[in-house]
Amino acid sequence: MTAVPLRVAILGAGNVGREVVRAFVEWPERLQTDGGPGLELVGIAVRDVDAARRRGLPSELLMDAPAHLVADPDTDVIVELMGGDEPAHTLVAAALGAGKSVVTANKHVIAHHGPELEATARRSGTALRFEAAVGGGIPILGPLAAELAANRVTAIRGIVNGTTNYILTAMTDEGCGYNEALAAAQAAGYAEADPAGDVEGHDAVNKLVILARLAFGSWIDPADVTTSGAMDGPGGGRPGITGVTSREVAAAAADVMVIKLIASAQRSGQRIAASVVATLVGRDTPLGRTAGVTNRIEIDAEPLGTVAFSGPGAGGAATSSAVLGDLLAIARGAGSTWAGLPFAGRLARLTR
Ligand SMILES: NC(=O)c1ccc[n+]([C@@H]2O[C@H](COP(=O)([O-])OP(=O)(O)OC[C@H]3O[C@@H](n4cnc5c(N)ncnc54)[C@H](OP(=O)(O)O)[C@@H]3O)[C@@H](O)[C@H]2O)c1
Repeated sequence: MTAVPLRVAILGAGNVGREVVRAFVEWPERLQTDGGPGLELVGIAVRDVDAARRRGLPSELLMDAPAHLVADPDTDVIVELMGGDEPAHTLVAAALGAGKSVVTANKHVIAHHGPELEATARRSGTALRFEAAVGGGIPILGPLAAELAANRVTAIRGIVNGTTNYILTAMTDEGCGYNEALAAAQAAGYAEADPAGDVEGHDAVNKLVILARLAFGSWIDPADVTTSGAMDGPGGGRPGITGVTSREVAAAAADVMVIKLIASAQRSGQRIAASVVATLVGRDTPLGRTAGVTNRIEIDAEPLGTVAFSGPGAGGAATSSAVLGDLLAIARGAGSTWAGLPFAGRLARLTR
């Protein structure tokens, strides 16, 4: 007997959402599970329905009231791809509270409301999955929670923000200044009109918070993660990459080094040290060679040793891979991204 399909509603059909919709339209046969329920797309919420229709999204599924899709008794799974804090946070919480599973790519919502959402999902017995929130299409959270679960993770470090890596790569390879490289990133569609979330390090902080939840079993308050390095280091103590100068990039090159925005977290006893700062790394190391919008995350674990994950850290199509994988995991009954790990309801204390 074939199981009744899970009815999926997608909130947001921008870069990522429209690629998820495309999968439902163009290759539904891949969205089936062996013996479990399939997945059926029943609604898509956007702000501007006419514009979405003109972009070719299926007219009969479009609407402009995401809260309606969350409350609708004819939806089973909510996919939140709107971004930002509100209304995304309230919609995700409401869906979980109503017993619906949720897939989201929203690193801000998971990093800033993680303890509350984890408690709600566990209480209501629903799944909350967010593989796409870190590393775009790179499978990193699932392996941390599952295949690496028998390890003790001691450290995580990596390049987790494609926009800043694109800017630093342009400054290094083409010798341009920070403002010129930022303008090139904006022209290429890699940086937003207001780039603060990326260049000041907040996006990378959100991803580090999520990585730490899976690796260390605790939530960190994003406000506790430092984004400014030493005054005499790259960036002169300014947040993220905002203080990095072409002179610093050239001086690094003379020493066979490059400047990268490195997100890093380590266990030290019961505490966690975490930072997102512009850092000198060897030009010929794997992190030094990570160019453009590629992401790379390295995990030190016992007994495994060091393992690394690298690949497309952004882009609608690549990111849709992680969203669709999470949908199939829900159809298979795999539970939340943290399934099998103990509840992490409290914030960890950070060392300074
Ligand atoms: N883009 C990437 O490469 C990437 C990678 C990893 C994770 N993510 C995450 O994925 C999420 C989506 O990113 P994106 O790049 O796809 O964003 P986007 O292109 O800006 O698309 C956002 C979509 O959400 C809709 N929306 C926003 N607010 C809404 C509201 N109040 N009511 C109804 N619809 C609303 C927009 O509607 P309109 O179309 O009508 O404006 C649009 O369709 C974000 O959390 C982002 O951080 C993105």
